[in-house]
Amino acid sequence: MPPYLVTAALPYANGPVHIGHLAGCYLPADIYVRYLRLKGEDVKFICGSDEHGVPITIKAKKEGITPQQVVDKYHKLMGDAFADFGISFDIYSRTSNKTHHETSSGIFTDLYNKGIFTEEVTEQFYDEEAKQFLADRYITGTCPKCGNENAYGDQCEKCGSSLNPTDLINPKSALSGSKPVLRKTKNWFLPLDKYNDELKKIIESKKEFWKPNVYGQCMSWLNEGLKPRAMTRDLDWGVKVPLPDAEGKVLYVWFDAPIGYISATKELLPESWEKYWKKQADEKDNAKLIHFIGKDNIVFHCIIFPATLLAHGEYILPYNVPANEFLNLEGDKISTSRNWAVWLHEYLKDFPGREDELRYVLTSIAPETKDSDFSWKDYQARVNNELVSILGNLVNRVVVLTHKYFNGVVPEYKTPNSVDADLLNTVKEKSAEIDTLLSSYRFRDAQFEFINVARAGNKYLTETEPWKIYKENPERVADILHACIQFSASLAILAQPFLPKFSQNVFDILAITNKPNWNQSGASNLVAAGSVLQPARHLFTPVPDEEITKQVEKLNATKADNSVLTETAESAFTPFKSETSYDDFVKMDLRVATILTAEKVEKADKLLKLTLDTGIDQRTVVSGIAQYYKPEDIIGKQVTLLANLAPRKIRGIESKGMILMASNAEGKLCFISPADAFDTGSTIS
Ligand code: 2FM
Ligand code: ZN
Repeated sequence: MPPYLVTAALPYANGPVHIGHLAGCYLPADIYVRYLRLKGEDVKFICGSDEHGVPITIKAKKEGITPQQVVDKYHKLMGDAFADFGISFDIYSRTSNKTHHETSSGIFTDLYNKGIFTEEVTEQFYDEEAKQFLADRYITGTCPKCGNENAYGDQCEKCGSSLNPTDLINPKSALSGSKPVLRKTKNWFLPLDKYNDELKKIIESKKEFWKPNVYGQCMSWLNEGLKPRAMTRDLDWGVKVPLPDAEGKVLYVWFDAPIGYISATKELLPESWEKYWKKQADEKDNAKLIHFIGKDNIVFHCIIFPATLLAHGEYILPYNVPANEFLNLEGDKISTSRNWAVWLHEYLKDFPGREDELRYVLTSIAPETKDSDFSWKDYQARVNNELVSILGNLVNRVVVLTHKYFNGVVPEYKTPNSVDADLLNTVKEKSAEIDTLLSSYRFRDAQFEFINVARAGNKYLTETEPWKIYKENPERVADILHACIQFSASLAILAQPFLPKFSQNVFDILAITNKPNWNQSGASNLVAAGSVLQPARHLFTPVPDEEITKQVEKLNATKADNSVLTETAESAFTPFKSETSYDDFVKMDLRVATILTAEKVEKADKLLKLTLDTGIDQRTVVSGIAQYYKPEDIIGKQVTLLANLAPRKIRGIESKGMILMASNAEGKLCFISPADAFDTGSTIS
């Protein structure tokens, strides 16, 4: 059987990992790989940090440190978070290492020597103050189509037009704010147009088994016609272009990053990596290359990287690219800059040891076919009603009963009846069903069916009622518990892809040291009669309401901060919001209010608790202004209040309304007050 090479997108090393990353890419990849391993397949699971690209250089500049320091910090943080959640990479490498620089520059050289690249001299914007060429995103200016003054060099987010930086009126550098100048520069282009037809044929052959969203996006690119794309950039952070006349140039981050998968495999298997990447003498032996990614990465994995591999000639192409959609958080898009996220390292601080719980919930709501939403209430309900009440409870009851009636010794299976046989047959049937779902990347449905197996176990136990019949028929109870113990062992097998920690705990409790494989689920001899079970312990515990309230309040506080604080670099270039109607505008009740009292909110650097006189009532408002105003300086100040905003709890304090603030390019805040002292309670329109 050919081997599998499974990759998960190399995350940019410029921020920690959040639940959106986990649900969209790393968790489905891990489930798939664990399943393949259980089936005895030859599989390698590859990932690492993507450490190049302009955003990392910008972050370094902002923080006054080197790009290497930025990536060192996040590489460690991300690697630890993945390990903590049981993401079982065979290697978590990084693109700033030597093997990767050698491998990617080697592949570039191979293409260069084959005469694949075209050399083109183009005029690019250059920032004379920052002394560097500017990536399209780092140039802003007025959109020639709609007049939006905050359009980006690649796109106007107001009218949606796709732009070139030179289309912008009054272009400005996002690095220094200065007017950039056009400078000639030479770069090496991959003529993607030449591979259009071949790629189209290849991807058309995948129509039946690639996800429709992935197939559709590829076809739309290919039908529009691919254009040559520069594979080098004028930048000093990245893999140096291995050519004599390429001083100050590096490989395009999307050229080198996917090659990172190859470099990491080489690092893992210096002797045998080619078996996973190169075309074999017999096509049937080619590895199955599967890229797990988010939907924003489709074009790079399905078109640009395959075009590079095709041009090279020695490499296999992706077998499948099961890209996911996005996960939202409490109804809003997850945003790193707005801190609207559940960070994995913070989750584990608040919920130590509960990594399986998050894995479970994220798989239950995985954005496999459309965007989906994580909410804390739903998290609590799924953990309490499914993991605790169905799964944990079943195994716990089985172990408790075995201790109660047989001192923890696994009883013999003497005269099993058809009900017992049915129970184990159910596992066999269900494991075949789950197998089909997993092999077609339907992890959400697969996990649902797995929980249904546990449901069947609970039903069996409830119906056979061993606690009622023990006195008159202990032999029957022996058979029932024997079946239940084998059933629990099967659950531990099927749980491995989804809930690795639970699975291991059950194997431990059942004293199973040699882990059985997938095909053994449903067997009646997984735990030998006579072996002794460990004492019962709770495998999952309910999440109390207070924990959920705390998380919701934490998010509310973030919302309050966001409503007044804007991220520094982004604020200067935040485009206008989309059009709103007059009717919507007048729904807002804006008032002149006067601050009566102000005090700091404990353990919240940014928040002040204010009492406001609205002319009609006195009310509490929590506002994220503590970094800009001292409580004692603002008593008596007149401010603008959004008076009819629905009340929200922020750090346990009910806040009624929101104070409107002006925010400048540095994110500094300032009250919006009437120009002259004015009547408190006056309306603003
Ligand atoms: O979107 C991202 O986070 C990219 N760093 C993914 C790169 S995947 C691969 F090409 F390395
Ligand atoms: Zn526009």
